[in-house]
Amino acid sequence: MSRIIAIANQKGGVGKSTTAINLSASLAARGKKVLTIDMDPQGNTTSGLGVDKNGLENTIYELMLGNAEMKECIIEKVYDHLSLLPANVNLTAVEIELIDQENKEFILKEEIEKIRDKFDYVIIDCPPSLNLLTLNALVTADSVLVPIQCEYYALEGLAQLVNTVNLVKERLNENLKIEGIVFTMYDARTNLSSQVVENVKENLGNEVYYALIPRNVRLAEAPSYGQPINVYDPKSAGAEAYDLLAKTVIGKKKKK
Ligand SMILES: Nc1ncnc2c1ncn2[C@@H]1O[C@H](COP(=O)(O)OP(=O)(O)OP(=O)(O)O)[C@@H](O)[C@H]1O
Ligand SMILES: [Mg+2]
Repeated sequence: MSRIIAIANQKGGVGKSTTAINLSASLAARGKKVLTIDMDPQGNTTSGLGVDKNGLENTIYELMLGNAEMKECIIEKVYDHLSLLPANVNLTAVEIELIDQENKEFILKEEIEKIRDKFDYVIIDCPPSLNLLTLNALVTADSVLVPIQCEYYALEGLAQLVNTVNLVKERLNENLKIEGIVFTMYDARTNLSSQVVENVKENLGNEVYYALIPRNVRLAEAPSYGQPINVYDPKSAGAEAYDLLAKTVIGKKKKK
C-alpha cells in the first residue's frame, strides 16, 4: 500500500517545492516507485523536475475538471522510478470552475485511489494558501510533512498549519496526521536557526520526526537546470540532507 504525503505550509517560500522535488527524487533513487503531484499553479515542482510546464496538453487541471483521465495526465519516468502529475498556471481557475460541484474536496482522492497501488509513495506539493487545492491534497494524504524555514516568523506558520490539519481531521479526513517537520535553509552559524528548531520541538514533542536541510546554494541552483539535487550535484550537502530525509521517511512505518 502506498503512502501519500502532502508537503504543506500556508507560508510562502519556505521550501515546499524544493522538498517535494528532492524528497521525491531521493526516494526514487532508493528504488521506491514515486508519483509526485504538483498542486500549485506556480508549477515549480513541474519545472524543477525538468518538464516544460507551458507545453503541456493535460495536467492536474484537466484531471480535476474531468476533461482528461489520470493516465493521460501523468508523465511517466521523468526520472527513474519517478512519475509526475504536472501543473501550470491554468490551475488557478479550478476553484471558480468547480464552484457549483458537490464534494469538490474529494476529487483528487477519488482519482488517486484508482492508481495508488502502482506507487510506493505519492508526494503532493501544496500551494502557499488554504484553498480548494490544498484541501484536496489534505483530504487525499495519509500525513503531512511541514517544511519550516528557520526564521523569526516560523512559528506563526506552524500554528496556522496545525489549525488547518485539525480542521481537516474533524471534517474531511479523520486519519490525517502531521508526520514530520523539515527545517529548511538551516544555518548552523546563527542562533536564530537553532532557536527555531528548539521552539518547534517544544511545541510538537516526539510524536513527529525532525529533519534538517542546510542552506545550500546548489539546492537553489538546481531548479533552473530542471534537475533534482541528486542529479545536479549528488555530492552536495543538500543532496546528502534530502537523501537522509528519504531514509527517515522510508524508516517510518505507516501507523493505522
Ligand atoms: N535549503 C535551501 N538552501 C538554499 N535555498 C533554498 C533551500 N530551500 C529552498 N531554497 C530556495 O528558496 C526559495 C523558496 O523555495 P521553494 O520554492 O521550495 O519554497 P515554496 O515553499 O515551495 O514556495 P511557494 O510558497 O511560493 O510555493 C527558492 O528560490 C529555493 O530555491
Ligand atoms: Mg512551491
